[in-house]
Amino acid sequence: MSSSDILGKGSTALVTGASRGIGTLIAREIAKEGGHVVLTGRSAAELQTASSGLAAAGADVSFLPADLTQPGAAAGLVEAVERQRGGIDLLVNNAGGDPLREFHAMTIDENLRILQLNLVAPVMLSHAALGGMLDRGRGHIVSISAMAGRVSFPYTEVYAAAKDGVIGFTRVLRGDYRPRGVSASVLILGAIRDAGQGQRMLDEAGMKASGFMAPAESVARGVVKAVQKDRAEMVIMPGPGRLLRAVMDYFPGLGPAVNRAAGASATMQKIIEQRDARAGVPA
Ligand SMILES: NC(=O)c1ccc[n+]([C@@H]2O[C@H](COP(=O)([O-])OP(=O)(O)OC[C@H]3O[C@@H](n4cnc5c(N)ncnc54)[C@H](OP(=O)(O)O)[C@@H]3O)[C@@H](O)[C@H]2O)c1
Repeated sequence: MSSSDILGKGSTALVTGASRGIGTLIAREIAKEGGHVVLTGRSAAELQTASSGLAAAGADVSFLPADLTQPGAAAGLVEAVERQRGGIDLLVNNAGGDPLREFHAMTIDENLRILQLNLVAPVMLSHAALGGMLDRGRGHIVSISAMAGRVSFPYTEVYAAAKDGVIGFTRVLRGDYRPRGVSASVLILGAIRDAGQGQRMLDEAGMKASGFMAPAESVARGVVKAVQKDRAEMVIMPGPGRLLRAVMDYFPGLGPAVNRAAGASATMQKIIEQRDARAGVPA
């Protein structure tokens, strides 16, 4: 199987969470390789804006709205794309995020919704897409994970569990199906600037990006590289990301100190204080 079958002319990619943030950039980068890209997210209006922008720049794109936390949505989405396009060559599980609120302050249902979006939906989409990929003897599933669990990023208990789950899921999926032509890769993101949730939080707090944040463009380029080079895992951070990740696994107690050094603790504290002040919560 060559990467041009997965990315080139005649191929179809489905990118979740492509209505805004990092996902739109991933869709743009994939489209540059010549294939068709289907963008999905909940908001039809935002998807329309994103795909019109990409099409105006010459990309071959379409969009299908879906709420991946709803029962049957993942399977329905895959079925619709397969019907319209004749198959899916590349699935990018990018949709995700976290309200970044204290674990105990959220209801258990709010916590479970984080798990549903960040772990259950990628599993369901992969399950739905795999059959067709195996039938055609080719396919690639790229999932977007995060360093949250590795660095004990504040207020991300369930998000971190989900994102670490995506790493384990991808490793086993890759091992089991690569011999049959379907590969899997995971990108493990540190804090990202220029687009997405991290940048929005900085804008909300009136703060500037630190040198510890990687540009969103590097995630988009990373997705294409993961397919072209058939990479198992890529860490997207400035500097030696894989090394930092290995160090954090070796010394897990260092997480809070790393967050303080990187400015994440102060940023998060400021954001929570500002949100509480706006909501009228007493200090
Ligand atoms: N930004 C960072 O610093 C950072 C760091 C580490 C990892 N990540 C990961 O990178 C990925 C992209 O993050 P981002 O920062 O670009 O986030 P974002 O700007 O908040 O975009 C999230 C995307 O997911 C979609 N989405 C949210 N809930 C959905 C649902 N229930 N069903 C279907 N789609 C849904 C959103 O579209 P709708 O609202 O229209 O549904 C949107 O397109 C996520 O997996 C995130 O966890 C980001």
